[in-house]
Amino acid sequence: MTDAAIEVVDLRHSYGSVEALRGVSLSVPLGSFFALLGPNGAGKTTLVHALCTLLRPSSGHVGVAGHDVRTAPREVRRSLGLVFQEPSLDDRLTVFENLIFHGRLYQVPRRRRSARAWAALELVELTDWANATAATLSRGMKRRLEIGRAMLHEPSLLVLDEPTTGLDVQSRRRIWEYLARLQRDYGVTLLLTTHQIAEAEGADTVAIIDQGELQALDSPAALRQRMGRKLVSLRLTDEGLERRLAERFAERCWQRGGAIWIDADQPEALLHELLTDEASWTGVEGLELVDPSLEEVFVALTGRDLRDQAADPKERLHGAARAGVEHTR
Ligand SMILES: Nc1ncnc2c1ncn2[C@@H]1O[C@H](COP(=O)(O)OP(=O)(O)OP(=O)(O)O)[C@@H](O)[C@H]1O
Ligand SMILES: [Mg+2]
Repeated sequence: MTDAAIEVVDLRHSYGSVEALRGVSLSVPLGSFFALLGPNGAGKTTLVHALCTLLRPSSGHVGVAGHDVRTAPREVRRSLGLVFQEPSLDDRLTVFENLIFHGRLYQVPRRRRSARAWAALELVELTDWANATAATLSRGMKRRLEIGRAMLHEPSLLVLDEPTTGLDVQSRRRIWEYLARLQRDYGVTLLLTTHQIAEAEGADTVAIIDQGELQALDSPAALRQRMGRKLVSLRLTDEGLERRLAERFAERCWQRGGAIWIDADQPEALLHELLTDEASWTGVEGLELVDPSLEEVFVALTGRDLRDQAADPKERLHGAARAGVEHTR
């Protein structure tokens, strides 16, 4: 594990009978930006907690900056900065005190704590708020403070568990700027979990995780290319046609955003067929050949929609397509 910031090999973890991680392996190169993309309950937080020594995994190996989480937990904790999914500031302390307190926990030498705290505040543009009680900050500002705090002990690796969930667009954008700066100017390795496709699009590597298993691991561009073909996107007015297509393409056909998506082996041929067959054509309101977005790759791989997490997109199709509901791999 020489040039990897994080090395995970066959990681498994169960909470009682719930298998949260079922043999995950991945490697995060130093200085890279790695996104772990997956819906609710995929196992993202479990993986993050295993990385930062908060959880002792059932089995498998986890190395952080060359240290094994089992045998060198202290070194691991020193190497990484962590932003939890749940808010973790002390609301009763001021912004500055929150940072100083963290500096003590992480044994930042006393004489350096204050300078580091100011640098952290500058990074996340909260200098003017140093003396405000944390409770008075907006949600976005709290998140920013948590990011500044995570960098206080100057870790080489920053792990963020859904850092932008629930934030408005501006706060989200600002957080993206800080993260980009950390990677670019300080060479910090970033690992973040998200269920927002847009966040994963900017990563060097994306791992798609679902039900405790990695479904794919590659650059966003390679993931899109991996499908190797365009998707057929259809807007239909004819339920009969919709049903026929659902039966014919089964789990390679799903519905999202008011359109039917089909991952056909020969998309051009399907398009041609629909355009030339009058019986079909009358039921088609719109049709397109589109390059798969990361979102479509995700749906094709997992049979699940990230945005509409409770529902299986294929479930909304009729008849035989319901077979796709049980679709597992
Ligand atoms: N402490 C726990 N005890 C029992 N089951 C748990 C515990 N923590 C998580 N789980 C279960 O393990 C699975 C993975 O959970 P995890 O929190 O890692 O998912 P996640 O990808 O972080 O989801 P989310 O996007 O909702 O944060 C889920 O089925 C969850 O219900
Ligand atoms: Mg989580």
